[in-house]
Amino acid sequence: MTISQANAITLEQELAWFDAVLNLRFTHYFGTPETQHATADVRSLAPPDLSNDPSPYAQIVRDYAMGFDERLVFLLCLIPHLRPQALDIFFTQSPITGRTYTEFGGWRGKAHSGFLPTAETAVFILAGQELQRRFATLQLFDDQHYFLKQRLIKLEHQASGEPFLNATISVTAEFLHRCTHGQVHKPDYSIEFPAKLIASKLTWDDLVLGRDVMDEIEHLHTWLRHSKSLVKHWRLEKSIKAGYRSLFFGPPGTGKTLTATLLGASVGVDVYRIDLSMVVSKYIGETEKNLAGVFDQAENKNWILFFDEADALFGKRTQTSSSNDRHANQEISYLLQRVEDFPGVVILASNIKANIDEAFARRFQSIIYFPLPDESERLRLWKNLLPNNELLAQDVDLPFLADKYELSGGSLTNVVRYAAIRATRMNRNRLEQADLLQGINKELLKEGRTL
Ligand SMILES: Nc1ncnc2c1ncn2[C@@H]1O[C@H](COP(=O)(O)OP(=O)(O)OP(=O)(O)O)[C@@H](O)[C@H]1O
Ligand SMILES: [Mg+2]
Repeated sequence: MTISQANAITLEQELAWFDAVLNLRFTHYFGTPETQHATADVRSLAPPDLSNDPSPYAQIVRDYAMGFDERLVFLLCLIPHLRPQALDIFFTQSPITGRTYTEFGGWRGKAHSGFLPTAETAVFILAGQELQRRFATLQLFDDQHYFLKQRLIKLEHQASGEPFLNATISVTAEFLHRCTHGQVHKPDYSIEFPAKLIASKLTWDDLVLGRDVMDEIEHLHTWLRHSKSLVKHWRLEKSIKAGYRSLFFGPPGTGKTLTATLLGASVGVDVYRIDLSMVVSKYIGETEKNLAGVFDQAENKNWILFFDEADALFGKRTQTSSSNDRHANQEISYLLQRVEDFPGVVILASNIKANIDEAFARRFQSIIYFPLPDESERLRLWKNLLPNNELLAQDVDLPFLADKYELSGGSLTNVVRYAAIRATRMNRNRLEQADLLQGINKELLKEGRTL
C-alpha cells in the first residue's frame, strides 16, 4: 500500500466521522427547543480508532495525542483540500436575515466558490451556543498551542479590529502534504517565506580552503555533529546560550555560500538562505512577521540559517533621517535579537568586515575570514574544475595560470564556462590555453584589471 492510499483510506473514515459530528450539531442547532438544549453532545460520537493505523495522518494524530477537539479542528482545516463540498451546509441562509448565519463564521476565497473555515466555524461545531465551551475552545488557537507553534495550521487575521475568531484557519503546506501524498514539503521562496533552500552538487573534496580556515570550519562542524552530547558532557547547559552563530566574511566567490551548503549536507540538515538586502528594504511592514515565520520553522526543523549580504546588519544604526530608516532600524534590531536567540546554527555572510563593533563581535562564536586562494589553492581549484586531461589541448598550462592570475574560486568557474563556450563556438572539442586566457581577461576586466 502506498502512502497516499493509506492516507485516503483513513481519511475516508475521518470524513464520515466529521459528517456525523456536523449533522448532530446542525440537528441540535436547528431542532426543537428540546434538542437544542439536549445533553446529547457531539463528543458522544467517538472518532475512528487509529491506534494501529499505518497512515501518516494517523501518525500525526498519535504524535500529538490529539483529543476530540483538536482532531476535529485539524480535519476541518484539511477538508477544503479533501472534500470541499462537505462544508456546503454552512451556506444555509437564515430566513430572518436573508444571508448566511453569523455564527458559522467562514469566508470565501477569491476563486474558490466553496466555504472556507474561520476559527468561528470550529467553535460553532465544537461549542454551539455554549459560552463555556466557546472559551475552552479558544486555547486551540493560542500561540503556545502546538497547532500554531509546530505549524500544523495557520491562523490569519484579515482585518484589525474584527473579532479574534474571525481569523481564517488553514492547514500548512507541510502538513497538507503529509496527510495526502505523504511527501515532505520543502517550502519555496515567496514574499511570505523570504528564504531559499540552497544545495550544491559539489562535495567536501571539491572545497579548497587554507589550513586555518579549514580548522575553523571543522570547529563549527564538530558543533553541528555533537552539540547535544558535548553540552551535556561538559555540563554547559546553564552557562552557554543555545545555538551557534558564525560570521563568514571575505571577497566574493571565495566559497562562503558553498561552505555553508556543505556543512548542512554533511550532517543531513537543510540550509536556508535569506538575502538580507531584500529583507531590510523599504517595502517591508510585513517583514517581521515573515521573518518570524522563517525562524519558527527553522527552529522546528533544525535548519541552518544562512544570512547573505549581512552587511545590512552592520550599518550604522543611529542616523534616522526618514521613517523608512527608522523602520529599517527596527527590523535590524528585531533580526539581531532573533539571531541571538536562535537555538540552532546561524551563519552570516558578508564581503566586508566593516567596523563590526566589539559588542557585535561578541555575539558570534566564530568569525571566519575567507581569503582569496593562494597559488597552490588556485592550482587545486583549476584541477578540480578541469580534471579530464583529454578535454585539454597540449598547450594548456594550469600551473602557469594558477601562478600568474589571482582569481577567486567563483571567478575560475566563470572562466571555465567562458572557455568551454568559446571552444564550442570554434568547433573544437578541446580547450586551449587561449580560451582560458580570454576567459581570465573577461574576469579581470570585471574587476577593472587587465591580463
Ligand atoms: N574555496 C572554494 N573551493 C571550491 N570551490 C569554490 C571555492 N570558492 C568558490 N568556489 C566556486 O565558486 C562558486 C561560488 O562560490 P560561493 O558562492 O561559495 O562564493 P561566496 O564566497 O559565497 O561569494 P559571495 O560573497 O559573492 O556570495 C562555488 O559554487 C564554487 O563552484
Ligand atoms: Mg555567497
